[in-house]
Amino acid sequence: MVGEYIARRPIVTINMPAGASANEEQERFWNDVAGPLWVAAEVDIECHTGPFGDVALAVALPANGEAVLDVGCGCGSTAVALAEAVGAGGTVLGVDLSAAMLARAEERLAAGEAPQVRFRRADAQSADLGSGSVDLAFSRFGVMFFSDPVAGFANLRRALRSDGRMVFACWQAPSANPWMAVVNRAAARIFGVDPPPHDAPGPFSLADPERIRAVLDAAAFRTVEITAHQERLRLGVGQAVEDWVHQRLIMGPARPGYLGADPARQSEVRATIAEALAGYRVDADDPMSGLAMDAAAWIVAART
Ligand SMILES: C[S@@+](CC[C@H](N)C(=O)[O-])C[C@H]1O[C@@H](n2cnc3c(N)ncnc32)[C@H](O)[C@@H]1O
Repeated sequence: MVGEYIARRPIVTINMPAGASANEEQERFWNDVAGPLWVAAEVDIECHTGPFGDVALAVALPANGEAVLDVGCGCGSTAVALAEAVGAGGTVLGVDLSAAMLARAEERLAAGEAPQVRFRRADAQSADLGSGSVDLAFSRFGVMFFSDPVAGFANLRRALRSDGRMVFACWQAPSANPWMAVVNRAAARIFGVDPPPHDAPGPFSLADPERIRAVLDAAAFRTVEITAHQERLRLGVGQAVEDWVHQRLIMGPARPGYLGADPARQSEVRATIAEALAGYRVDADDPMSGLAMDAAAWIVAART
């Protein structure tokens, strides 16, 4: 039954023609480094990002029958949630650079849920996503990686109908996100990594609301509304803090220095950073109780 269903589904476009991406560095990162790690840690990551996605969904209010674009859809959980909202008469196209994450997204559909969802491997900044056919462009943390954000958002705007809307979640500044910043900062000190320029493609490229407004204005969006949302995350529950630190290090900017160090040095670094996180432990006497750390995002809504 499932096999029959899969055979009926159009094949996801996993291959992207060479040179089709305007974001080659990000494409390499999300295919070779982050994608497989993200798939392996999907359940944990979903706990971090899920609450923000739920708020963005509540703002976006996808309606029955609408055509939705899920930008940087990753492993596909938001695409499925969007599909539930638009119903059988609606459509959802999830677009992402990462073949590994899209393969996981496709797996989600294999059981026969959400037949109105399609996934496509493409660069949302430069791919032809259609013109004037989308009601809602949605993204949970997938729009901060464009090499040319104005071009990227202008491309999304082109895909939207004349009365279309866009809603996305993006991270606030590192200072409001200790759950990422504490490890990154400590590792940067240890391995001598310079912080990236504040507007470089990456999780914090849209941290400044003035920049969000300037970029969306230049991409011809209007009535931009930016709302703050904060969560206290429970991280690394049921694992040693050092193991959680390892997960963060191999995804973060100090990855090359960390992976290049010998095992004894790596272990020393993990222990040093775990020590720096002592104040965030849920239960100081229980090493497996995890960490409670703040996370903050902007929920951005704009109209064409
Ligand atoms: C932080 S992850 C978020 C994934 C997913 N939206 C979620 O919330 O789980 C960022 C995603 O954006 C994708 N991405 C980055 N730049 C992109 C681009 N130019 N076009 C399409 N996808 C992109 C990455 O491959 C990755 O899956």
